Amino acid sequence: MENLNIKHIAFIMDGNGRWAKKRGLPRHLGHKEGCERVIEIYEECAANNIQVMSLYAFSTENWNRPKAEINHLFNYLELFFKREIARLLRDGCQVRTSGDLSRLPKKTQKVIADAKEKTKDCKNYVFNICLNYGGRDDIVRAAKLFAQDVKDGKKDIDSLTENEFQQYLYTTDLPPVDLLVRTSGEQRISNFMPWQLAYAEFIFTPTYWPDFTKAELRKCLEEYKTRDRRFGGIGDGK
Ligand code: IPE
Ligand code: IPE
Ligand code: MG
Repeated sequence: MENLNIKHIAFIMDGNGRWAKKRGLPRHLGHKEGCERVIEIYEECAANNIQVMSLYAFSTENWNRPKAEINHLFNYLELFFKREIARLLRDGCQVRTSGDLSRLPKKTQKVIADAKEKTKDCKNYVFNICLNYGGRDDIVRAAKLFAQDVKDGKKDIDSLTENEFQQYLYTTDLPPVDLLVRTSGEQRISNFMPWQLAYAEFIFTPTYWPDFTKAELRKCLEEYKTRDRRFGGIGDGK
C-alpha cells in the first residue's frame, strides 16, 4: 500500500438534513443514515494507514436546532458506540472526544465514557469525535488552563511556545490535521479546529454525508496526492 503520509484526517460531516429532505424523509433519518457512513469511512482511513481521524459531529452552535432533532442525534450516537465498540477495540482504536461533554444527555455521556475507558490503552488508531465542540471555545479553554498553570506557578508566560500551548487544546498530543474534507458543498469551517487546521489541505465535495462512500473518500485521497504542501517553503515544483 502506498503511503499517503496523512497522519490526521478530519471530516465536517454535513448535509444529513438535505439528504433526508431530498427523499421526503424527516431530517433525523439523514442523521441515522449518516451514522452508517462513519464506520465505513473509518475503515477506509485505516486501510490507507491514516492513524488519526477527527469527526465533527455536533458543534457548539448546533444547540440552536430543534430539541427533537438534537435528541435524535444523540440517540444515534449512542447506538453507534454500542454497536461499534467491540470492533474499535479489536482494531486497537482509541476513542477520544473533543468538546465539552457535560452539556450532553447523561446517558450519552455514559456511553461515551464507557467507550473511552474500554479503548484507553489502544495504540493503533485514534477516533476523535467532536461533540459540543467549537474552535473558539477550544482556544479560550486552553488559554484559561494555561493561565491557571501560570497562577499555580507551574508555567512561565515568557517561555510559552506554540507546541506547549497546543497541549492545552482538546486535541493535545494529536498531530495537526493534514486533510480536511467537508461534504455537502458548503465552503466554510463553521468553527471547526481553527488552530489544528492552520496548514491543512481542504477538500469540499458537493456530496451529502449520507452519500459519502469509501470510493468518494478514495477520490479525495487521490486529490490530496496532487497537492504541493509547501509550509511556507518553495516546495517540490522549485
Ligand atoms: C450535518 O448535517 C450533521 C450535523 C450538523 C449534526 P446537517 O444536519 O447540518 O445537514 P444539513 O446541512 O441541514 O443538510
Ligand atoms: C457543521 O455543520 C457542524 C457539524 C457538521 C457538526 P452545520 O450544518 O452546523 O454548519 P453551518 O451552520 O451550515 O455552518
Ligand atoms: Mg449542515
